[in-house]
Amino acid sequence: MLIPREIIEEIVARTDINDVIGSYVTLKRAGSNMQGLCPFHSEKSPSFTVFSRTNSFYCFGCGAGGDAINFVMRAENLDYPSAVEFLATRAGITIPQDKNEVARMGMSRKRVYEMNLAAAKFFRENLFDKEVGFEAMNYLAGTRKLSPLIIKRFGLGFAPNNFFALTNHMRSLGFSEQELIDGFLCGKSQKGNLYDYFRNRVIFPIIDVTGNVIAFGGRVMDDSKPKYLNSSDTPGFKKSKNLFALNYAKNHCSEQIILCEGYMDVIALHAAGVENAVATLGTALTSEQARMLTKYTKKVILLYDSDDAGQRATDRAIQILNEVGLEVRILKLNNAKDPDEYIRKFGAERFKALLGESRTGFDFKVSRALVGLDLQIPDDKIKASKAICDIIADSTSGVEREVFLAKASELLKLPIDVLRNNVEMTIKKRVKEFKQNESKQAQMSIKHVGDRVNPDAIKNIQANALEENILGLLLIYDEYRQSVISGKIELTPDDFVTAFGKKVFEAIIEVAKSNGEFLYAMLGQFFTAEEMGRLEKMRQNRLSLTENGYDVLDVSISALKSERDKKNSTDSGDKFATLRAKQEQLKNKRK
Ligand code: UTP
Ligand code: MN
Repeated sequence: MLIPREIIEEIVARTDINDVIGSYVTLKRAGSNMQGLCPFHSEKSPSFTVFSRTNSFYCFGCGAGGDAINFVMRAENLDYPSAVEFLATRAGITIPQDKNEVARMGMSRKRVYEMNLAAAKFFRENLFDKEVGFEAMNYLAGTRKLSPLIIKRFGLGFAPNNFFALTNHMRSLGFSEQELIDGFLCGKSQKGNLYDYFRNRVIFPIIDVTGNVIAFGGRVMDDSKPKYLNSSDTPGFKKSKNLFALNYAKNHCSEQIILCEGYMDVIALHAAGVENAVATLGTALTSEQARMLTKYTKKVILLYDSDDAGQRATDRAIQILNEVGLEVRILKLNNAKDPDEYIRKFGAERFKALLGESRTGFDFKVSRALVGLDLQIPDDKIKASKAICDIIADSTSGVEREVFLAKASELLKLPIDVLRNNVEMTIKKRVKEFKQNESKQAQMSIKHVGDRVNPDAIKNIQANALEENILGLLLIYDEYRQSVISGKIELTPDDFVTAFGKKVFEAIIEVAKSNGEFLYAMLGQFFTAEEMGRLEKMRQNRLSLTENGYDVLDVSISALKSERDKKNSTDSGDKFATLRAKQEQLKNKRK
């Protein structure tokens, strides 16, 4: 069985782990995560956590953990391919069944681009057709107030209210049935007839940085649902790897780029002369997009909708952007739901003036925490300082924490030392809680099952702890994985003491070496659901700590190597043999 990488990527992008788990477990918010009673062992107080940062779950009670696929494996008692299929069906994704179909999914990118370009031309001609495109032009130029220039610049179009308009046109150009289906321009009816996927919608072509039309978004012109229809991922298009209008913004964003939620927001901004604006494609910001942005800019201004969903998405985006080292600013709009509406209400000049008023991620989080609190009221002030100290404790950099502490001290009118103390206590408490949970788990596993996942761990406690540190870091940071692959960090499978540690290392490197971005979900192919729980523990363990720098990795690797050497020499039980072995090694090297 080999499930194409694209399919797994799409499932990951379209699956909300809280939704999946929420249909089995009642989840309650706990900080930035969700908690509930573990469905995999019986418990009275919740030790089952769903982490929003990693889209994964972990039970501190029984050690179950992993991503949505691993959850389904356990909950539905399925193997990896079946769990993938289960989630695919849930998300409306078809997994190619036979080899031919897999091969067809590999339709060349060039062909997809040709096909999309022809379709884009067709949509545009329809929009500019006085009869067919009358209502759509009215909508874009009238209701949405777009100038003819902007309509042309963004290549907007119209998909006629007809089931066969595009289908017939494209077939007359020689595109095959299968190509039209694979490219998400057409669907196939039960009876086996092809029909247009986009109908009676204004069309927004998605264009990549090299100028290829890679997909389409289509909006209804009234209040019907769904408001937008988007092409699914095809060989030439991955939502998680593209941004709307980056083809234009890329030439204007070396200092900063503005990230919005919607196509129309970006278009309104460009029309107002703000050309460094982009939007995600109907999904939340991914770390792939964030990493991509680092190639074009230094600073991202987040300009999401002002509703609660937009603000929550902002929270999450701050984290993702910080993780790739981008500077983040947040712009909040007052009296308008999104940038498009703001510009229509208040004009371009007011918007440009507002751009200078963006806030830092810290200020944004603090002001969110202060909503509804009055610092003149002692109780509220206590609540506020607790919330702010929690935010400061999230920071992994000591320097940053000091800067925030100074700000917080000024805002709350409290001595900085008092706040610093609080932050340190919070951090200590978090580490302690984590350790307690961990030892609870260790006790469980000794009492009930022993360590089935890693039977070597018991005999190599120190080495196992080091391996888990190293593997946890490798699971999180691409930089470390790349350094291992390039040899900048010297680490090989043979450096590992436990067989399980070695296997995990090999799997991480294999997935990291495969085409494209590191896809955590692909690790599931190599491990059982129970083993995935251990990987999740390693990852969450590191994420809960504040120090994950290069030195931590470096020290752990050296310590592991000496553990391994120690073990090798005791295993042979004979110093002489070890020396002989070393001599052999030297000889071989000389050869
Ligand atoms: P919004 O609902 O905020 O729409 O969705 P909008 O951009 O303000 O659109 P207008 O102004 O009503 O035309 C934001 C983005 O989320 C995606 C689209 O990419 C949209 O631009 N979306 C929204 C969908 O993909 N499907 C939907 O049904 C709705
Ligand atoms: Mn809007």
